Amino acid sequence: MKNKFLFIVLILLFIGWNGKAQTQNKVVINANEGKYTISRHIYGHFSEHLGYGIYGGIWVGEDSPIPNTRGIRKDVVEALKALQIPNLRWPGGCFADEYHWQDGIGPRDQRPKMINTHWGGLVEDNSFGTHEFMDLCEQLGCEPYICGNVGSGTVEEMSKWIEYMTFDGESPMANLRKQNGHPEPWKITFFGVGNENWGCGGDMLAEYYADMYRRYAVYCRNYGQNRLYKIAGGPNASDYNWTETLMKKIGNKMNALSLHYYTVPKNWNDKGSATDFDETEYFITIDKAFFMRELIEKHTAIMDKYDPAKRIALAPDEWGGWYNVEPGTNPGFLYQQNTLRDAILAAVTLDVFNQHCDRVKIANIAQMVNVLQSVILTDKEKMLLTPTYWIYDFYKVHQDATMLPLSVACARYESQGKSIDAVSASASRDKNGKIHISLTNTDPNKSQTVSCELLGAKAKTVSGRILTANKISDHNTFDNPKTVSPKDFKDVKLTGENLSLTLPAKSVIILEIQ
Ligand code: AHR
Repeated sequence: MKNKFLFIVLILLFIGWNGKAQTQNKVVINANEGKYTISRHIYGHFSEHLGYGIYGGIWVGEDSPIPNTRGIRKDVVEALKALQIPNLRWPGGCFADEYHWQDGIGPRDQRPKMINTHWGGLVEDNSFGTHEFMDLCEQLGCEPYICGNVGSGTVEEMSKWIEYMTFDGESPMANLRKQNGHPEPWKITFFGVGNENWGCGGDMLAEYYADMYRRYAVYCRNYGQNRLYKIAGGPNASDYNWTETLMKKIGNKMNALSLHYYTVPKNWNDKGSATDFDETEYFITIDKAFFMRELIEKHTAIMDKYDPAKRIALAPDEWGGWYNVEPGTNPGFLYQQNTLRDAILAAVTLDVFNQHCDRVKIANIAQMVNVLQSVILTDKEKMLLTPTYWIYDFYKVHQDATMLPLSVACARYESQGKSIDAVSASASRDKNGKIHISLTNTDPNKSQTVSCELLGAKAKTVSGRILTANKISDHNTFDNPKTVSPKDFKDVKLTGENLSLTLPAKSVIILEIQ
């Protein structure tokens, strides 16, 4: 009798254990414990004078047969407006530290030309300058994020640019702006004091740049009501010494510290193809994308020592996948295709930013149109939306919402004797009380069953959208622009505080719960 009882207990334990094993992935969301806001500025973009990033991709000029508003493409603006872009970083990148803003104002046919030494050695005619950029931001409804020239520009030049843009009164620069057709000052919040000053922005050592920052920043004045949010040129990926030095020497004289990290599957000489890659290269890419989490946590730990109140933000203002250029294109133009792999890369990165929104308050994917991991590609009058575009479309619901803390116990996607999380997630509650959960299955072969507990949520309905495709290398072309595009996702069950669903292999899902 005793043995029989023991046997039944063992059987029940086995069934229970087995039942748990079937629900491999468990996400627990504390729906009432949100404390931090996911700043909308995490969803920022970046456009540099590089290849067709500006010229052709955004700016076609007023006389172009391509429909435009004051020279700016209508189709591109319309598509970008749907993403609710919060801020746009410009004019570089490396270009910023060679840019002389006074060349880009006044009558276009009288603007001096320059050589774009970084990007293809082409002649830059300066037809897209400060006024055109501000017009673009107004058309997009986003805030400008201007990056100033520390590497080869003077303190005077930088200070005059700020006066030109923001001073509301009588002054040489404000009068010049009025003469050039803009009587009112613009509102500029985000201002970068240099870019990659450890490299193309002057090849400086951390101590030297810290001193340069302090000097330049003094003359970045707040005119009238305008308040600058000053962003220091931050570290290259895992250069923790750079962060330590700047935190120690600059401290609260900066509002944010930038961070640049690109996902390069192979190496800088042969980065790997954007479309022609195998599963091993896919795994390496997503593993490297997850490295953003370690970077944010380690840089944050250093920042916490000097700034425990988290007043200074970490700003990953250049990130994304960087591959070999498309065959036959100018190597200096950084024009690459964009596949489902890029959508997954973007989703896991944005989840990391959402989860660390107490420190990460502004971020910019590189770059918006026709350069690196773009959301839009153009070919003369044609335009297509990339898989990455759809991730920004899915994730825009997190902008300015309250981040909901979550824990993920998930399966591992294994390859090459290594493994990464098979499931990535982030969640938020918006101002109307709706909960949004983003879920990604990084495994290209196996679907994942997810049981998601929504602790404290009074949920009644759930709806969703999914992005997936047949292959991880699938992408949109000008002939087939919808190969990777979103679909409604209905395969999700809500029972009380529990959601259950199956994430198909290599997919990104956004759920809305009311
Ligand atoms: O985004 C392309 C380049 O990458 C930028 O100009 C530079 O800042 C970085 O090295």
